[in-house]
Amino acid sequence: MNTHPLPIPVFDIVIFGSTGDLALRKLLPALFRLFLDGRVPAGSRVLGVARERQTDAAYRAAVESALRVAVADARQDDLQRFLGSVSYHALDATQAEGWDAFAAACNTGDQRVRVFYLSTSPALFADICQQLHRHALDGPGSRVVVEKPIGRDLKSAIAINDAVGRVFDEQRIFRIDHYLGKETVQNLLALRFANTLFEPLWNSDHIEHVHITVAESIGVGKRGPYYDGTGALRDMVQNHLLQLLCMAAMEPPSSLDPEAVREEKLKVLRSLKPIPAAEAARLSVRGQYVAGTGTEGAMPGYLEDIGKATSGTESFAAVRAELGNWRWAGVPFYLCTGKRLAERVSEISVSFRSIPHSIFADVSGTITPNRLVLRLQPDEGVHLYLMSKYPESDGLHLKPVSLNMSFADAFGVRQLDAYERLLLDVVRGNLTLFMHRDEIEAAWRWIDPIETAWSSATGGPEPYAAGSWGPASAAPFLLRGISGEGDSPLGAPVRSGG
Ligand code: BG6
Repeated sequence: MNTHPLPIPVFDIVIFGSTGDLALRKLLPALFRLFLDGRVPAGSRVLGVARERQTDAAYRAAVESALRVAVADARQDDLQRFLGSVSYHALDATQAEGWDAFAAACNTGDQRVRVFYLSTSPALFADICQQLHRHALDGPGSRVVVEKPIGRDLKSAIAINDAVGRVFDEQRIFRIDHYLGKETVQNLLALRFANTLFEPLWNSDHIEHVHITVAESIGVGKRGPYYDGTGALRDMVQNHLLQLLCMAAMEPPSSLDPEAVREEKLKVLRSLKPIPAAEAARLSVRGQYVAGTGTEGAMPGYLEDIGKATSGTESFAAVRAELGNWRWAGVPFYLCTGKRLAERVSEISVSFRSIPHSIFADVSGTITPNRLVLRLQPDEGVHLYLMSKYPESDGLHLKPVSLNMSFADAFGVRQLDAYERLLLDVVRGNLTLFMHRDEIEAAWRWIDPIETAWSSATGGPEPYAAGSWGPASAAPFLLRGISGEGDSPLGAPVRSGG
């Protein structure tokens, strides 16, 4: 995060895996939007790299159609100007062929920033980094961006971190988690540390529980082979949800310096209480969707989506986490994520404790504890649920009501998409919103025993109907189950007058 944004230097971005979903759906549209905003200095270039052989023209045509989908109102002349900076290079990281020509294409003779974005399988990271080193592409202006999940357990993550670290020092490795680039996650820092209101209450004395929910309505789509070898715990909880937990639970860092922020996040990860195998069934739930019906009609099940007869992979994961530290002792953090759920909604919901004594014993309406909700998507904003007197009633009738702040309405400016923001940070060399290797390894240290318990348990993931709120036994992990606000999926209290 840049409080005073530094100038943006001329840069080259090399995307390995440039024909993949992430490159076409997220990275190139983000670069194009930055270009439209005038944030891509003249002379900057995009070099797409993948194994398949194709011409520059064919690749540009594929990029153009992806951009037309992502930026619906794109103008033809803007597209052409942007595409003029895009080239394609067929390379196999495991073969020597083609690398000399690629290195020559990279060499512009100036001192520009060079970003190597590894949007490939982690199995290729070591080979790519070695090739970059062999061809002297790892000079001081070069940096590497590594996508999650880094490894599939602690051991493989250490191997990847070591391999990348042999070529690039830690200061030039940008381990990206796009959730850290989302507007509301950044705003969590502002909310917590630029206001005096919340921090005195931000502890186990006042907070009863925290729910971190990333619910997706989409299924696994075309990513079946990747997803089936990964599952929700590795795909989402190990990274996005734990990073959200860090931002919500960390102590105030001394500054926004990368080291200061990353150290505080690391302390959170290291204070996660291990989940022993014997407790895994009580403290976690895994599920897999079966055919069901949602707002868009009938939806196929997971097995149909991935085209297999059986699979033990979870498309839903919920874990009750606890932090063993003074501030958060005894406060459950419910981490919950899944595909093909009833709604697309991501939020951090902080539930405060009940009032110690009610003077409203004879008054109608129950007193719902206060809740602060940071909505990541859709409709980024902050909602504070308070108790209030309901105006229509003759006597005193209490109802919860919410104070709502929508970023779009409050500021009326276009928000940068997470990838736009993070790509700018990479170009500027700002590591604050990227993960240190110690964070990745601490996260796996906590995840590994849950994975082991799940894989050695009898029985597979619990089925849930596509379009529902997940497996029945996950109800206590979702706010709805806990607060009993059954008619409102993530527990939004009934609005006054509603
Ligand atoms: C990715 C996961 O990291 O995040 C996907 O691999 C998931 O499975 C995606 O769909 C969700 O991101 P967002 O920004 O759409 O919430």
